[in-house]
Amino acid sequence: MTFYSHLYCHQCEKTYAKEHIHKYCHECTQPLQAVYDLEEGMSKELIDQSRYDMWRYRAFLPVEDDKHVVSLGEGWTPLMILPKSAQSLGLHSVHIKEEGLNPTGSFKARGIGMAVSKAREMGISKFCIPTAGNAGSALAAYVAAMDGTAHIYMPEATPKVFQLDCEVMGAEVTKVKGSIRDAGLAMAKDNENGQWWDITTLKEPFRLEGKKTMGYEIAEQLDWQLPDVIIYPTGGGTGLIGIWKAFKEMQDMGWIDHIPTRMVAVQTKGCNPVVKAFEDGSDHCVLHENPEETIANGLRVPKAFGDKLIMNTLKESNGFALDVTEDEMIAGIHEFARREGMFLSPEGGAVYVGCKKLIENGYIKPEDRVLLINTGSPYKYAENLY
Ligand SMILES: Cc1ncc(COP(=O)(O)O)c(C=O)c1O
Ligand SMILES: [Zn+2]
Repeated sequence: MTFYSHLYCHQCEKTYAKEHIHKYCHECTQPLQAVYDLEEGMSKELIDQSRYDMWRYRAFLPVEDDKHVVSLGEGWTPLMILPKSAQSLGLHSVHIKEEGLNPTGSFKARGIGMAVSKAREMGISKFCIPTAGNAGSALAAYVAAMDGTAHIYMPEATPKVFQLDCEVMGAEVTKVKGSIRDAGLAMAKDNENGQWWDITTLKEPFRLEGKKTMGYEIAEQLDWQLPDVIIYPTGGGTGLIGIWKAFKEMQDMGWIDHIPTRMVAVQTKGCNPVVKAFEDGSDHCVLHENPEETIANGLRVPKAFGDKLIMNTLKESNGFALDVTEDEMIAGIHEFARREGMFLSPEGGAVYVGCKKLIENGYIKPEDRVLLINTGSPYKYAENLY
């Protein structure tokens, strides 16, 4: 059972019927978002307590019939309190959501699992994607599970294990010189006849719905007391936008009175289009030419398709955007590992360092309850870290 109603474009306010297949808004080329028939007073019993994965929120997800769900156990990841870090950083509390424990080792399993499930419901089985690594691993796995085909385009600089991961699952991998943007352009050329379903971040509406489940989990796992600050490593931005979407849906149902959370985007110094737009007070990003290579492959996105939604989320939540250097990320990973016994991905290292910088500049105050998101497992990045 789902309350899924239709698709909606936030830019031009056009609506699209859910019965038809849509990618993005054909009026204004902005991403589409799934809308649900939600009302104040809806019961939290709509959460399926028998499931310990993202499908416990299936009433607020777009798949109509359970038989189309392709699941590898994604979601319901641990949300841990870190008293040692809180004490060391001088904060009221620090929590971490450990997304590296998802199938295929990252939060990408949520979005890809959802997009593949919904595509299967629409009769689609051939997929393509440009990826920094983790989304490719996830797509290869979910597509193998549903007996489809996957064509995966990744920058040459992507750690080797991501390619191995995809090929073991039976996907076809193409390595492309340049960044994820170049991978996307090469893919679009090979897919000019549209023979494959393109699930580039936010170019179809349903990866966002999978990422949204992080927001539902954060609320439920914190007993409906949302954190004051969430720090998120931002590339294409689906996680940031999705968490915020979840909070607003829960507010519509009266599950949360008011949303105290300020959403923070962290990027790398060598590829920081969101930070620049934030500092300029702009509602969109400018393409970051020649993005530098980074150990945090997932953050090397020179311009996100959903840039306006990212900037809107930062604005609406009174959020912030900042960047970190490669050395800071490495030092942050080591410091955190030695204190907490947790090995962060480079993107998670960026989040931790971002938190420290925000304490220094006064954006995070001692009384704040802060949530860090470690979006992936570090192990696939071993060659970047040694
Ligand atoms: C580990 C990791 N963190 C963060 C990101 C960026 O995620 P998003 O596109 O949701 O901003 C990626 C994207 O590849 C990733 O792999
Ligand atoms: Zn539109």
